[in-house]
Amino acid sequence: MKDLPPLTPRLRAVASLVREGVNVADIGTDHAYLAVWLVRSGGCGRCIACDVNAGPLERARETLRAYGAQDRVELRLADGLDAVRAQEADDVVIAGMGGELIAEIIARCGWLRESSKHLVLQPMTAQPELRRALCRSGFEIVREGAAREGAKLYVVISAVFTGRVSEPDELYAIAGRLPENTGPEARDYLLWQAAVLRRQAAGMRKTLRLLVQAEQAELLAQKLEALAYHTNSN
Ligand SMILES: C[S@@+](CC[C@H](N)C(=O)[O-])C[C@H]1O[C@@H](n2cnc3c(N)ncnc32)[C@H](O)[C@@H]1O
Repeated sequence: MKDLPPLTPRLRAVASLVREGVNVADIGTDHAYLAVWLVRSGGCGRCIACDVNAGPLERARETLRAYGAQDRVELRLADGLDAVRAQEADDVVIAGMGGELIAEIIARCGWLRESSKHLVLQPMTAQPELRRALCRSGFEIVREGAAREGAKLYVVISAVFTGRVSEPDELYAIAGRLPENTGPEARDYLLWQAAVLRRQAAGMRKTLRLLVQAEQAELLAQKLEALAYHTNSN
């Protein structure tokens, strides 16, 4: 029997934000590597691993067999958290999906609005939209991390419900709590976002009526760079 499934740097960053000793729900589990790793090595109790598609759950079943984790990881075919009850999970992981889909899944599950529950989210796209959705629906982002895989950079967001609704400014929507993170991946992520804004600003400058937006994008890029270098000097 195999010992531990391979975890990519992205999934390691996700695992690092899951609390020790808790029960977990892994939504969109696919191969269930993370679920098995969390119960085997991450100090988690049990994991309910859900996926909306039967194919991924079949892969997950293979992983459970290969690593002998059937007693600690339970597979469920379901959309989002539809098949998980509040008392079954303390930490909820939703990784490897678009930020808007992650926000929809959270919005549909009422019991996530309990302060004892922790969300660990890894959006592949629309990260600013996810941060805005969290803040607007009373969640507080408590920690963020970043990971690099080759040329790609990924962000991981941990959030809890406080009930305090807020409207994040553009800088926070893009940077989140990454500036508090001293790793080189967080700095590179912020610099990458600044470069994206600079390219957008250059494009907008070619159109007279977009000059103001171009300057706003340029200013935002400068602020992100300042945050990135502050992060690096910590
Ligand atoms: C790209 S994989 C990510 C797998 C793993 N979480 C990771 O981060 O490596 C996305 C998985 O989410 C599943 N998925 C997509 N929408 C879902 C939903 N609404 N509820 C549950 N699972 C979903 C897909 O079937 C797929 O297996």
